[in-house]
Amino acid sequence: MDPKLYKQALLNELYEPYKNCTMCPLGSLGRKNVVFGEGDPDAGLMFIGEGPGRDEDLQGRPFVGRSGQLLTRTLASHQVKRENVFISNIVKCRPPDNRTPTELESTTCKKLLLEKQIKIIRPKVICTLGSTALVHLTGKEFKITKARGKIIEQNGMIIIPTYHPAYILRNASEITTFSNDIKFALEQAQLLQKK
Ligand code: URA
Repeated sequence: MDPKLYKQALLNELYEPYKNCTMCPLGSLGRKNVVFGEGDPDAGLMFIGEGPGRDEDLQGRPFVGRSGQLLTRTLASHQVKRENVFISNIVKCRPPDNRTPTELESTTCKKLLLEKQIKIIRPKVICTLGSTALVHLTGKEFKITKARGKIIEQNGMIIIPTYHPAYILRNASEITTFSNDIKFALEQAQLLQKK
């Protein structure tokens, strides 16, 4: 069977029981959709953000608001379509007022969904977007300014952290750094030929 079809079927099966999840407090704090994630189920590169914002909650899709558009544009600048990577978040439900997810919320969601998504997709590289995604994925207190653009190997995962695109929207001078980090992650995932 085609690995894409097989993995997509496994992802659908994983998502199904959690479409109205109330396993952590975010399930009863006004979220509209459980934003599972989207993209190529057999992707070499997986992006992990913090959690859905307003637009993502309304549309049920990850990174579709202003931050997401910046991510999509940056990928396009390296000739990569967002459909060719997989995009998700640490927590799948929007925290009220976009607050940072709590330890309980992220641990619960990581165990129930994110870790299983990673096992199914088996990406070559995971690119975490922002400090929260990096710290919650690894369980370690990394400083994003030091860790970004470097390879972190943990539990068989290759993680390349970069800034959150929302930070780049506020700090335009960091766009080149962000774009270069993404290029490096694409190269490591063999989605881009090294020049
Ligand atoms: N910010 C995130 O961390 N994730 C999204 O899906 C959108 C914005």
